[in-house]
Amino acid sequence: DWSVVGLWILAYLTGSISSAVIVCRVMQLPDPRDFGSNNPGATNVLRLGGKKAALFTLLGDMLKAIIPILIGYALDLHNRNLGWVGFMAFIGHLYPLYFNFKGGKGMATYFGALVALSPLLLGFCVVTWAVTAFFSRYSSLASLLASFAVAAFGFYIDHRYFFPLFAMFLILTWRHRQNIKNLWHGTERKITDKKSRSK
Ligand code: G3P
Repeated sequence: DWSVVGLWILAYLTGSISSAVIVCRVMQLPDPRDFGSNNPGATNVLRLGGKKAALFTLLGDMLKAIIPILIGYALDLHNRNLGWVGFMAFIGHLYPLYFNFKGGKGMATYFGALVALSPLLLGFCVVTWAVTAFFSRYSSLASLLASFAVAAFGFYIDHRYFFPLFAMFLILTWRHRQNIKNLWHGTERKITDKKSRSK
């Protein structure tokens, strides 16, 4: 079905738009790729430019998945295909066409996919993220545990998007490999830590 393939391509193209880079440019902040964890994502923009800039980045990166999935609903796509629309936006965020294929880690776009796909899974994921982030102060650990929780237990809450969500969990974990090493060695940067100790 060509409407499915077309929407996957569109999702990749919207996913490729880096909200972090654009928000920082518009708000005349330094490039997030040259600062802190060097990651073009909401967490690093929070360190760089504060809450407002981070919120715009988060919302922008979420919309990249939400909009193409909403188009998918309008086109009456099957659930199976809708989940992969979210996956393609996620891939665009990680490997953006317009930014030399060097993107972020995907958590905000993953949240966006959940917003449009499954409010129940979103709630489960956000609670896991928030509790972990609150107690540990590590955004990376929160992202890792929240996507793991959805992969491990999400099936019992809402089984419809298991495969794309599991694939995103695996790729998220791989993209956080430096964070995992830093966590292991106790050198991971906390959410609001502006120092550039570890890379
Ligand atoms: O989802 C991104 C977050 O988990 C980690 O970001 O900048 O701390 O590497 P950062």
